[in-house]
Amino acid sequence: MHPSQDSKQIRLGNSTREHCILDLVVGARPNLVKVAPLIRELQYEDQLKFRLVHTGQHYDNSMSNDFFDVLEIPHEHVNLEVGSSTHAKQTACIMERFEDCLVSKRPSMVVVFGDVNSTMACALVSAKVGIPIAHVEAGLRSFDRSMPEEINRVVTDSLSDLLLVSEPAGVVNLRNEGRPEIAIRFVGNIMIDSLLRYLPVSSARKTYSRYGLTPGKYALLTLHRPSNVDDQETLRSLWTCFKELSSMIPIIFPAHPRTVQQLRELDLLSEKTPDLHVTDPVDYLNVVCLQKHALFVMTDSGGIQEESSILGVPCLTLRENTERPITVSEGTSTLVGKSPEHIWQVAQDILAGRYKKGKSIALWDGRTAPRVVSSIKEYLGLVSGRSR
Ligand code: UD1
Repeated sequence: MHPSQDSKQIRLGNSTREHCILDLVVGARPNLVKVAPLIRELQYEDQLKFRLVHTGQHYDNSMSNDFFDVLEIPHEHVNLEVGSSTHAKQTACIMERFEDCLVSKRPSMVVVFGDVNSTMACALVSAKVGIPIAHVEAGLRSFDRSMPEEINRVVTDSLSDLLLVSEPAGVVNLRNEGRPEIAIRFVGNIMIDSLLRYLPVSSARKTYSRYGLTPGKYALLTLHRPSNVDDQETLRSLWTCFKELSSMIPIIFPAHPRTVQQLRELDLLSEKTPDLHVTDPVDYLNVVCLQKHALFVMTDSGGIQEESSILGVPCLTLRENTERPITVSEGTSTLVGKSPEHIWQVAQDILAGRYKKGKSIALWDGRTAPRVVSSIKEYLGLVSGRSR
């Protein structure tokens, strides 16, 4: 059956119209930044309705609810409330609960975002139930299977019917994996839609002043990858490096809960570090403000690598590899791994004014959501046109 036949009839006023239902799946913080522009775009569509499914992978206010509020996302229709656990248990729990959800209300398509456990778990359920899957941010590969996200990316892409790609390397990777040309669409980076929309309001927030910082005279740090924070040796060495660096330039460090947990275990948070400010996670508008006005950022987050490239802020990527190579070749990112010497050397270059300037990046233009919607409509066999 063609997917367009799997649509529902609704009555709108006196007329009967056909529409398709999309299940939009979110679970973790970065998914919310990606779904927001798509929801906004779908509001103008007569033929596409959506149901927002939150798996509950992230559940703290600072990791989830605050993002709904500032990104103006309507509250989810379904929350699977899975919470934290081991990868296998979390994935299994999402699968079990999402299957019930799909069976009770069968959508025309499931849309998943990024590379978190919720992405892979829901793609797997949809494939088994026989519902087509669109993957937003398909094709990215770090070629490092020790990263849980890489496994999620490979599995999700292999099951997805519509592969919506953010950068050219993703197209190459999918072709190399033998995916048919018809399934691949280079649509650009949907996270940048959110960034460009909220930049003026974020920028004016002056979040840095809460911590006594001056624009252009501090660095922003984020750190949460298992490879950086779960190994005690690595975390201790990075902490020492940041502490020393903070005597040269103050550092603001909104810390992810898993990082705080590890820092506590090592008893590092009780140390006096006047210029290394560790704070709770901050909401989207505040993190964009902190990025925009930083002299440089240090991060292991994929999203921040991308955003800093568009903001033109130097980014020391605290990883050995990246699935987002365009942020290094065209953008402002440098892979520094976890070597304190390398971090110091690049930081010194920036402080001395010797650092590359980024170039503009194709289709990271704030118009990705409309291209995602067009691709989905085309896939579902819906005619183009909308009510805006
Ligand atoms: C997940 C994603 C990662 C993404 C990140 C963004 C996977 C495999 N990883 O990592 O790709 O970059 O989200 O933040 O899906 N916790 C809380 N409160 C919360 C959520 C988590 O305290 O609201 C703590 C729990 O102790 C939990 C730990 O953080 O065990 C890790 O959370 P989890 O969702 O498993 O992975 P992240 O590290 O957040």
